[in-house]
Amino acid sequence: MDAVQAPIVPITGELIRQAPGTISLGQGIVHYGPPPAALDVAREALANPDTHTYQDGAGSRALIGAIEDKLLRDNGIDAARGPIRVTITAGANMGFVHAVLAVTEPGDEVILPVPFYFNHEMAVQMAGCTAVRVPTDGRYQLDVEAIRRAITPRTRAVVTVSPNNPTGAVYSEAAQREVNRLCAAEGLYHISDEVYEYFTYGSARHVSPGSFAGAERHTISLYSLSKAYGFAGWRIGYMVYPEALADAIMKVQDTVLVCPPVISQIAAVAALEVGPAYCRAHLRALAEVRDIVFAELRSLEPVCTVPAVEGAFYCFLRVNADADPLRVVERLIREHRVAVVPGPAFGATDGCYFRIAYGALEKDTVAEGIGRLVTGLRAILR
Ligand SMILES: Cc1ncc(COP(=O)(O)O)c(C=O)c1O
Repeated sequence: MDAVQAPIVPITGELIRQAPGTISLGQGIVHYGPPPAALDVAREALANPDTHTYQDGAGSRALIGAIEDKLLRDNGIDAARGPIRVTITAGANMGFVHAVLAVTEPGDEVILPVPFYFNHEMAVQMAGCTAVRVPTDGRYQLDVEAIRRAITPRTRAVVTVSPNNPTGAVYSEAAQREVNRLCAAEGLYHISDEVYEYFTYGSARHVSPGSFAGAERHTISLYSLSKAYGFAGWRIGYMVYPEALADAIMKVQDTVLVCPPVISQIAAVAALEVGPAYCRAHLRALAEVRDIVFAELRSLEPVCTVPAVEGAFYCFLRVNADADPLRVVERLIREHRVAVVPGPAFGATDGCYFRIAYGALEKDTVAEGIGRLVTGLRAILR
């Protein structure tokens, strides 16, 4: 555990607490809560004694059924056709831990394109494995050749996150297909984290590798209600994986979770009935916020660069100067009352980077926060 990085959000959280009035562009959450219909059924379910007992380990039949419908409609994954399983987890983070424990043994390697989602590296290391970092290109897109070169006899899986945290990049379908084919050819799993599946802008389209022909044998797809349905605290995610992994995954599930939270599953069924229109309504507002964020950050060029990206609610800013990112974040909070997350948390150590998250706040607050960030970076980097 000593080798695993400490979670970054509580670290910046402590700095923010010491600087009242700080606007946090740090947290990767949305500003809205669950659909009211989900809360109504959860309230009603409190009176049912079954809500308070252990239930099926893989998840309720009602929720798995609703997810299978959604997978077919939104992801092109036919759970009824292929030899695949759906298991409900307490969020996609847990799905990732399950996946790593199911497909590796200590000493194995898992390939993570950099910058990565920090909990992925942490999970790989906790499983006694090595997270092998491979670079992405200047627009944070996958470098499939770099992934190919990183494969060794100990490699067990390649992880992709699209739309991406922390960069906001949406990976091209062509690259996702190449990675998926590469995994099939090399006998590896493709772990595809799709928690931001609905968060795309402009002409970008999300594609699910699990829908590619033949992918059902080696693809593990991770989803979540945390972002799309404002469900972060209810802890509902799900994983779709090859049937052959079912025994291993259910061993982990039984040991770690026993069963997914019952009341959250009841609320989740109602949320899925409302459907992705719920998220899309909020996406229009997010798109406006995003325009402000990118327009403001562009004014920092050439000292900083931020590639145009079309997904999630993040951007990953590169500072073209020699500066210590953690030191800069401390000064941004103390002197300018705005918080962002330093790049090393995401494995970005070849320069000075910051992740900016714009999903958690209303438009005016984000605009104010970005204004402070631009002023602060200008002052600090002068
Ligand atoms: C890429 C990615 N995967 C997983 C998660 C965690 O999702 P959940 O709340 O479903 O565990 C996050 C949350 O920020 C994320 O960015």
